[in-house]
This record gives sequence, C-alpha cells and structure tokens, in this order.
Amino acid sequence: MSFDGYKEVINEGDTVILYLTISQVYNVKAEGKTLNKKGQQVENIFQTPYGALKCAELIGKTYGTKIQLSKGWGYILQPTPELWTITLPHRTQIIYTPDISMIILQLEIKPGSIVIESGTGSGSLSHALIRAIKPQGHLYTFDFHELRTKTAGQEFQDHGLANYVTVTHRDVCCNGFGEDLNEKADAVFLDLPHPWLAVPHAVKALKSIGGRLCSFSPCIEQVQKTCCELKNFGFQEIQTLEVLQTQYNVQIRQFPTLDVEFLKYPKTEEVEKKDREVQKCLTAIPPAQQPGHTGYLTFASLYPIWARTVNKNEVDSD
Ligand SMILES: C[S@@+](CC[C@H](N)C(=O)[O-])C[C@H]1O[C@@H](n2cnc3c(N)ncnc32)[C@H](O)[C@@H]1O
Repeated sequence: MSFDGYKEVINEGDTVILYLTISQVYNVKAEGKTLNKKGQQVENIFQTPYGALKCAELIGKTYGTKIQLSKGWGYILQPTPELWTITLPHRTQIIYTPDISMIILQLEIKPGSIVIESGTGSGSLSHALIRAIKPQGHLYTFDFHELRTKTAGQEFQDHGLANYVTVTHRDVCCNGFGEDLNEKADAVFLDLPHPWLAVPHAVKALKSIGGRLCSFSPCIEQVQKTCCELKNFGFQEIQTLEVLQTQYNVQIRQFPTLDVEFLKYPKTEEVEKKDREVQKCLTAIPPAQQPGHTGYLTFASLYPIWARTVNKNEVDSD
C-alpha cells in the first residue's frame, strides 16, 4: 500500500525503492519469503552490486532510512510514479517521465478526471495517470494481451491503487471501449500500433461537452494516418510534438588562465608559476549525449457536441 499517499513506516508487502546511486535504483518488495523459479517458497534476498539485502529486514524501518549492505549502503525510499517508471519490470516498451509530464499537462488531467488508456503495457503511464486523477477520478485501462492486463491489475492491487483503476482485457480497435463508457471520458490516451483504428471509439467515449485525446507513436507514418482520422472525425487543434529533454549540469569548474602577455617572456620561475594558475568559473555543462527519439505525441480536442463539424472522407491540404 505504499503508492497511495505518504507513509512513515514500511509494512510487510510494501513495494519500496532501493536507491544506491543515480543509475542503480531498484524496486523491492518488503516480504520475508518469495517464490523461486520452481515455485518453491524461499527467503527473499535481493542481490545488489554492494551486497545482498534480506528483504524481511525492511519491515518496520522508516522510509528514507540508510541501510547497510555487506559492501556499501543504500537508501530506502517511498515509491512514486517517477521512481516506478525507472525501476518497473518491462513487459513492453514504456512511456518515460518527460513524455508523461507533457501528456498529463496537455490532456488537462486533474483530480476527478475520467481517463481512458490503451494499451496498458507495463503500467508506466498508468501509475502517473492514477496519481493525477486521485482521489475522485478513475482510470479505465485496456490491453488485448491478457497476461499483461492480469499482471498490471495485480500490481495496482499490490500498490494500493485498485480503487482508482479498472483494467479490461479487450481489443479496443475492433471492439472499442464499451457502451458503459459512452460519453464518460474527459480524456483518451492511445499507445497502440494502429491508433487511427481507435479514433471512432474515442469519439463515442469522450463526454458530449468534449475532451482531449493524445496518441503516442514512434513512427511519423503512424502520426500521419492518425491525424487524418482525427480530422475526419471532427477533432480540432490537432498538434504533434516531440519532447526532447536536455539536462544541464551547473557546477564550478577550474580552467587554466592564459595571459598572452606572459607568452612573450622567457620561461622564468615567475612565468611558469603564472602558467600554472587556474581560474574558477561557474559553468552550465550540456550533456555529452542527447537523449534520443522516443515517440511523437499527437494531441487533439473534441469540441462540445453542438460545435462539432464532421469531415468524414474529406481530408484537405491545410
Ligand atoms: C507500448 S505498449 C504500452 C506501454 C504503456 N503505455 C506503458 O507506459 O507502460 C502497447 C500495448 O498496447 C497493447 N495493444 C496493442 N494493440 C492493441 C489493441 N488493438 N487493443 C488493446 N491493446 C492493444 C499491446 O498488447 C501492448 O501491451
């Protein structure tokens, strides 16, 4: 129950974050026993580069505690959607935090929002959506891969989030989101290989007062098809963007000073001393490598029902 609000003390069954370094962050379950590959109950021991962690020892500790490992130490942190995204077990490609933040902002998701998502995948985006719509809102998430829906459903249960989310096993391109959700959603999010097939179903699911849609696609050809279909079905304000995050490192650096006047003189002890002088500067260092392309985000608005114009089969050149 560790995702649903802040807690002081780690209880048995909590999912916690083990932070060793900025690139060595893991999720661990605070449970004394676990099942091995043969299905037998064994002691739950998590191996880290700094030694083994007996997970039973986490129970009763305070979040934020520094824990000793045989070859170093780590910190036990509260899980958040951001930490879950970087530590979750990958069952599919996932959506990362820079894209997630843009999705939540552009879809205008807030506490109380009713949101539809497909596919559920590994549940990376779902966790962030649930935090944004809590406590009165609801997330309806769909995937046509049965095991993925079951695993995601179990994770939501384990994380204490089950009341805020309904997981459904369904092919949304063929069968839509279901009559129960007609005109219920404030926002629809699509992360599908053929998102344009789900657009007519999104129109049915969005509220009659209108709503927002987002489609995430890695390829520009998917974007083109989706934009055409969005236009056909009366969406407005269609906009595609790509989020490329550049993180700067602000730090004090030392640089050798170069005094050209001194270069003229013979190398006396005084000149050599001047050569070795350094100057301290406050710098902002760009990353050595720029993070690459993840996907394109297409956003669109469906206006209130009385203001909609449907351009079926009429894609013009503007
Ligand atoms: C890339 S993953 C989604 C990842 C997810 N956004 C996340 O952040 O973890 C795409 C998912 O869509 C599901 N999917 C593909 N086509 C579908 C369809 N027609 N109906 C429902 N789910 C579908 C796949 O099974 C897969 O799990």
